[in-house]
Amino acid sequence: MCGIIGITSNKTVSAAIINSLKKLEYRGYDSAGVATIYDGVIKEVKSEGRVENLEQNSLIKSLEGTVGIGHVRWATHGVPNSINAHPHSSSNVSVVHNGIIENSTILKKFLEGKGHVFKSQTDTEVIVHLISEHLKTKNILNSITTALKQLHGSYALGILFKDEPDLIIGARRGSPLAVGYGPNENYLGSDSYALKSMTNKITYLEDGEFCFIKKDQVSFYNEKGIKINKKVLELSSNQANYEKGDFKHFMAKEIEEQPVTISNGIKEYVDQLNNEINIYNFPWSIDDLNSIKLIGCGTAYHSCLMAKYWFEELTSLDVSIDIASEFRYRKNKFKKDCLYIFVSQSGETADTYAALDLCKQNKMKTCAVVNSVESSIARDSNFVLPIHCGPEIGVASTKAFLGQILILYILTLKFGYVKKDLSKKIYQNKIKDLKKLPKLIEKTLLMDNKIQNIVSDLNEAKGSMFLGRGFSYPIALEGALKLKELSYIHAEGYPAGEMKHGPLALIEEGMPVIVLAPRDSYYKKTISNMQEVIARGAKVLLITNKSKDEILSENLWETLEVETTNDDLLPFLITIPLQKLAYYSALQKGFDIDKPRNLAKSVTVE
Ligand code: G6P
Repeated sequence: MCGIIGITSNKTVSAAIINSLKKLEYRGYDSAGVATIYDGVIKEVKSEGRVENLEQNSLIKSLEGTVGIGHVRWATHGVPNSINAHPHSSSNVSVVHNGIIENSTILKKFLEGKGHVFKSQTDTEVIVHLISEHLKTKNILNSITTALKQLHGSYALGILFKDEPDLIIGARRGSPLAVGYGPNENYLGSDSYALKSMTNKITYLEDGEFCFIKKDQVSFYNEKGIKINKKVLELSSNQANYEKGDFKHFMAKEIEEQPVTISNGIKEYVDQLNNEINIYNFPWSIDDLNSIKLIGCGTAYHSCLMAKYWFEELTSLDVSIDIASEFRYRKNKFKKDCLYIFVSQSGETADTYAALDLCKQNKMKTCAVVNSVESSIARDSNFVLPIHCGPEIGVASTKAFLGQILILYILTLKFGYVKKDLSKKIYQNKIKDLKKLPKLIEKTLLMDNKIQNIVSDLNEAKGSMFLGRGFSYPIALEGALKLKELSYIHAEGYPAGEMKHGPLALIEEGMPVIVLAPRDSYYKKTISNMQEVIARGAKVLLITNKSKDEILSENLWETLEVETTNDDLLPFLITIPLQKLAYYSALQKGFDIDKPRNLAKSVTVE
């Protein structure tokens, strides 16, 4: 969580730092700050709220200096205000930090005993004073190695020293950090995205490592303080992906991009001519796998649930799923014949990474389904299946969700075929249907007017429910999550058949209930459950697919019909109206669609 940028250059850096912080806002946006060294003094400017508040802060214009660090915050310790905003500085050290220092209370007491005075409520400030304390008796290298050993918890750090006006130190444990190389300047960033507008030459730090960045030279060290060599990677870059273009919000752009991103995913894995799925260099024999475990958080967890339904339906594999933050602390029974799949858009989510790490320690087979192929989860998994969606900037995930379930569906078909659970004919027919999916998504996207007309009623509601059965149940959960994230309306996703065991008590006159009932094998059952909520006064929005058969119900509030395809693929299409419903609901309420309150795109704290 939070975003870090550092620049050391031969020109003034504050404007470039602010520009990069704007790109990092998806990681946190409750406060922002910059510190530089000028004339032998550390100067910091901090503001509550968005980076634009910092940019408009009159002090920022006079912030000179050719070395500096900046930060956008997602609060963990201490309320979001300008005092708790980073950087935190003493007279000789300034620090920006992502992560949580778990022993900060003990360290603070120790440092207060030594006469250090704290200004903020943050855990980060202990790092500043701890380093300052060591600098009384040690050089910079030894002060850093000693201080880092004393910190428990997770961190990515950017550190400035008053007496070193060309130096930034970066250090990583548990939170990602990258170094970038430019002409006569070098950079530190909490991810490569922040650095992309300045360079495509990157080195990632591994846990325990730290680095000394000067404008013309970078040195890396392991946790013992011994110099190490690291590779410089060249990143591919497509700047257009990082711009909103004609769209009002990134989310709107990302929803509309889905026909293209799905088409890219299909092209990557499907041999169009022979109707065959290619998963090159898969390191194990599929025949030897007997079970699959899928792990993720948030929307990525919903992708795991979707995949469970497909794997169970189309393969003989035993499938289970887990929320990463639960998996990492349970007593798991690790199985050698199991493939552990980690699903993550960013590839940096702390809980998902910790679950992967646990599997690695137990020598399990690990596979990452990620959007960011340069991420920690991608780098540390045995095998990577990229979803090829391009950068997703809107905090609420849309195209990455469809991208994740696409790859998981492709994997299901491949496994089902190789394990002889699917005949060649069925396998190839399903691939033929899959190839038509981008066109169907494109057509399904054309329902804005109808959705815009219903959001005012939805926006008056105190709460709402999203119901589905079978393949539609994971989508009901995802639809409810989208509405919560963007419109702050209480929304509960529920299996339609489970309503009678409790939640039916919530239904009252006029409550919006969104029922997902495509005409698949569950259709009639879901429609019966829908009647039960209508009978109790619910206002039902039915989402189904086009058909020549009439809808088996009256008294509906509204109906939205997506295009028609085979049962497996309907989840892709019924997701679209739910994304748009949440988008237009938030738009009408005037909420910040790309940066919903209290949330962040990449959650690198547990
Ligand atoms: C955050 C985001 C969600 C996302 C979840 C998992 O909570 O706001 O949109 O689904 O993290 O992120 P990941 O990058 O692992 O898919």
